[in-house]
Amino acid sequence: MESRITELKEEAISAIEVASAVSTPKAAQEALKETRIRFLGKTGSISLLSEGMRSLTKEERPRIGQLLNELRNIVTAALDEKEAALTALADAAAFASIDTSLPGTASLSGSLHPLTLLVDRAVQIFRRLGFAIADGPDIETEWHCFDALNTPADHPARNEQDTFYLPDGRLLRTHTSSIQIRTMVANPPPIRIIAPGAAYRRDEVDATHLAQFTQMEGLTVAPGVNLGDLKGTIEFFFHELFGPGTEIRFRPHFFPFTEPSYEIDIRTESLGGKWMELAGCGMVDPAVFAEVNKARGDDAYDPERISGFAFGFGLDRLAMNLTGISDIRMLTENDLRFLSRFPA
Ligand code: DAH
Repeated sequence: MESRITELKEEAISAIEVASAVSTPKAAQEALKETRIRFLGKTGSISLLSEGMRSLTKEERPRIGQLLNELRNIVTAALDEKEAALTALADAAAFASIDTSLPGTASLSGSLHPLTLLVDRAVQIFRRLGFAIADGPDIETEWHCFDALNTPADHPARNEQDTFYLPDGRLLRTHTSSIQIRTMVANPPPIRIIAPGAAYRRDEVDATHLAQFTQMEGLTVAPGVNLGDLKGTIEFFFHELFGPGTEIRFRPHFFPFTEPSYEIDIRTESLGGKWMELAGCGMVDPAVFAEVNKARGDDAYDPERISGFAFGFGLDRLAMNLTGISDIRMLTENDLRFLSRFPA
């Protein structure tokens, strides 16, 4: 058996030599694969020889076993070495015709729209305060957009001249506040959501007005929510967005769906040092909760037990200031000279 092992070793080594010298690297690789099966495969010569171990005496077994192991290792190493050399050769051949010093073909990668970048930043800040993202349709019912928000039928916002109505009576939402209603009708309190989205009005398009613009709505409802929570949230948001030096002013105002209501102005050197009106906000009017309860058929939003604050930002004006443009239309014209200034 010992001499058969020596024989097999020589046989295998010379077979490997022959196989690796076959005409092309590809053919040689194939030949090596076959050689590996021939010697090391399940029914290969080395495996078959190993079966002869059974007929050996107890004394002979360890030594022959060791020799067989060595044989396996030597043949495996020789095969591996040749295969690696052939792979390197094939790689070198593949690269030989390529001049890696030539300039490459640049692929054009897009970038995110400045409004998208702003929404992402705002969402990140609110997420840290535990706000989830809510959504609603752009085509809304009058009830979600107005009635449920305590906006009576004779309110100017509902005027045909101000709003895009569809033939079936629905409309393009005039603000994202409708998402407040959708969220509360679908979920009991506590609520803590923000909702970025498009809003539409029949505005004459000019340097500061678009018929479609971007808002971000916010709503918090839970037991004991108060005006201090609203102010703290808004201040945290603007300080995170524009830096701790940002001044924030709450001006009393009127919105049908909040009481009391405020408009929010901010002033910061980085945005030109002038007061800028950016948002509306307030404490959710109990009349809104009453409408929501009616639609839900329960009193989950009992104003005796819960309260809430809401806010709505216009994001286009902010994006204009952040990007330093003076014409809002640039946000929708898709001029690449403008858009490519904002790497993703
Ligand atoms: N929806 C209002 C608008 O478009 C903005 C607004 C004001 C939203 C007060 C609110 C709020 O949530 O509480 O002018």
